[in-house]
Amino acid sequence: MAFDRLTYEKAENEIKQRRFRAENRLTERMDEINVKIPEITEIANKISQTSIELSKLIIRKESNFTESFNKIKEQNLQGQAMIKQLLVQNGYSENYLEPVYTCPSCKDKGHINGERCSCFNKLLTHFAVEKLNSEANMPECDFEHFSLDYYKGTSNPSCPDCYRKMSENLAFCKHYANNFSLKSDSLFILGQTGIGKTHISLSIAKEVSAQGYTVAYGSLLNYLRIIEKEHFGRTPNSETDTLQVLIDTDLLILDDLGSEFQTSFYESTLYNIINSRINLGLPTIISSNLSVEELQRNYNERIISRLFSVFTTLMFFGDDIRQLKRLRNEF
Ligand SMILES: Nc1ncnc2c1ncn2[C@@H]1O[C@H](COP(=O)(O)OP(=O)(O)OP(=O)(O)O)[C@@H](O)[C@H]1O
Ligand SMILES: [Mg+2]
Ligand SMILES: [Zn+2]
Repeated sequence: MAFDRLTYEKAENEIKQRRFRAENRLTERMDEINVKIPEITEIANKISQTSIELSKLIIRKESNFTESFNKIKEQNLQGQAMIKQLLVQNGYSENYLEPVYTCPSCKDKGHINGERCSCFNKLLTHFAVEKLNSEANMPECDFEHFSLDYYKGTSNPSCPDCYRKMSENLAFCKHYANNFSLKSDSLFILGQTGIGKTHISLSIAKEVSAQGYTVAYGSLLNYLRIIEKEHFGRTPNSETDTLQVLIDTDLLILDDLGSEFQTSFYESTLYNIINSRINLGLPTIISSNLSVEELQRNYNERIISRLFSVFTTLMFFGDDIRQLKRLRNEF
């Protein structure tokens, strides 16, 4: 999977930082223990001495190799057990002198047997999403600035009970964001223009990102354009594979389904994203101002059936808040 050079460097740098942090922390702890329990340092020195003997043995391949090897190994194990015992006796945890890596699988090296570790792949996706988001030109929206006042006394005949329904939608979305996990449901947010679908999606994005998840948010049309350019571009391998990044990100928010032109490439790409994420069990949030009938008319059955069966639908109601704000001179 391809990533652009800057994304790759950022991920590599983060892995390096993590390794430095783990090593520095261990050095600090060893210095501390050296002062408080010098016996441990003595034992640790002996152990490293025997390690040298061990490598000498291996090089020399003497006749009594196995016997000496086992003896040294036994001494090492005893030494390590003593260190643990002394740590516990002095009120420390027995693992106090073991390095704490962010990723124990690769010990913060980023690779295992020449293969990229999953922690490295996660970071690559994270920085690729960060770059995509920075180019997305989406407004800053949060729950704090989502007011229910706009839904009071609405003139919208389709929803006399608009305020109550939108209170429920807001409560649902706050709960969703606060309790987010990779197993969270996917959401399909429907409703007319200017009633807060994008605002609430971005509020979820903000909260979920703050919890450390990687959240890609952007207009579907913009994503499809990027993917199309990469797909038909001349140098496909030097750029980030945006399609794969959108499939892999923890949470994907596709804003404004229906604003794109209907081309077979767009439709198959959209299907690919939705279906791949369903297969991975990852949550996606999609918003649209098309009616259910329009959706059914405009999209392939394969997409529609997934949106209405796998996704939880939230119906939004209200008057166009863009207009309300203009009328009230709030911009
Ligand atoms: N409940 C709300 N409280 C405060 N501001 C809101 C609220 N809902 C929407 N807005 C603001 O109104 C404008 C329109 O909202 P938004 O972009 O979320 O609409 P939308 O439903 O996504 O519309 P469209 O279908 O046209 O994309 C934005 O500036 C948004 O910040
Ligand atoms: Mg919108
Ligand atoms: Zn790793």
